[in-house]
Amino acid sequence: MKIVLIGAGGTLGVAVHTALTGRGHDVVTVGRSSGDLRLDIADPEQTAQLYERVGRVDAVVSAAGDVPWKPITEMTPQDYLDAFRGKVLSQVELVRQGVGRIAERGSFTLITGVLAREPVPTGTAASLANGAVEAFVRAAAIEIAPQRVNAVSPTVFTESLGDYGDFFPGMESVDLDKVARAYVRSVEGAQTGQVYVL
Ligand SMILES: NC(=O)c1ccc[n+]([C@@H]2O[C@H](COP(=O)([O-])OP(=O)(O)OC[C@H]3O[C@@H](n4cnc5c(N)ncnc54)[C@H](OP(=O)(O)O)[C@@H]3O)[C@@H](O)[C@H]2O)c1
Repeated sequence: MKIVLIGAGGTLGVAVHTALTGRGHDVVTVGRSSGDLRLDIADPEQTAQLYERVGRVDAVVSAAGDVPWKPITEMTPQDYLDAFRGKVLSQVELVRQGVGRIAERGSFTLITGVLAREPVPTGTAASLANGAVEAFVRAAAIEIAPQRVNAVSPTVFTESLGDYGDFFPGMESVDLDKVARAYVRSVEGAQTGQVYVL
């Protein structure tokens, strides 16, 4: 398959890239500062450019998403808007703009995370963004068939414990290769409207 992978240079993106290329797929990488295409998907006009430049693909895979982390008393309205733009609208636009452009039976795989269901202090923006994306996936799936859309919703990555472990005391981590396999499942499988909780 020809697959476009956004966030390919990140911790998760590298693992997803390895898994997808290892399955023989042709992967076009996208990021703001690295990749085959340098684009910011938080800007809907740049997402339009992405689809213009990449041509017809079989799958769109997202491993990107930025949200602010702060105590709720320090959050501003702009912080919540930034979270919406950085993780929700960015991924919604991949689907909204992609429906008319990807293969007839193509798929979208979005990234959310454990904070949709297991909150931690300073994570309100991440929780709301992840929850919004998961609700969107379920809703979009019933409209876009035979195209498909799923989300991957992992807990903290084992490989990220050094950076984020203190936010998740006592919580299980998940190895990146297992998360990457959920992307393979979403891309190559037949399910839609699923949130793969890892
Ligand atoms: N780390 C964890 O333990 C964990 C656990 C569960 C869920 N997640 C979620 O998984 C996703 C990836 O996390 P990560 O730890 O792999 O992050 P990361 O290492 O910072 O990687 C994110 C990648 O996405 C790209 N990116 C970010 N925003 C973009 C945009 N608007 N347009 C284009 N590219 C963009 C970044 O590259 P540029 O900066 O060059 O654009 C980078 O390559 C996030 O949504 C995160 O919330 C992470």
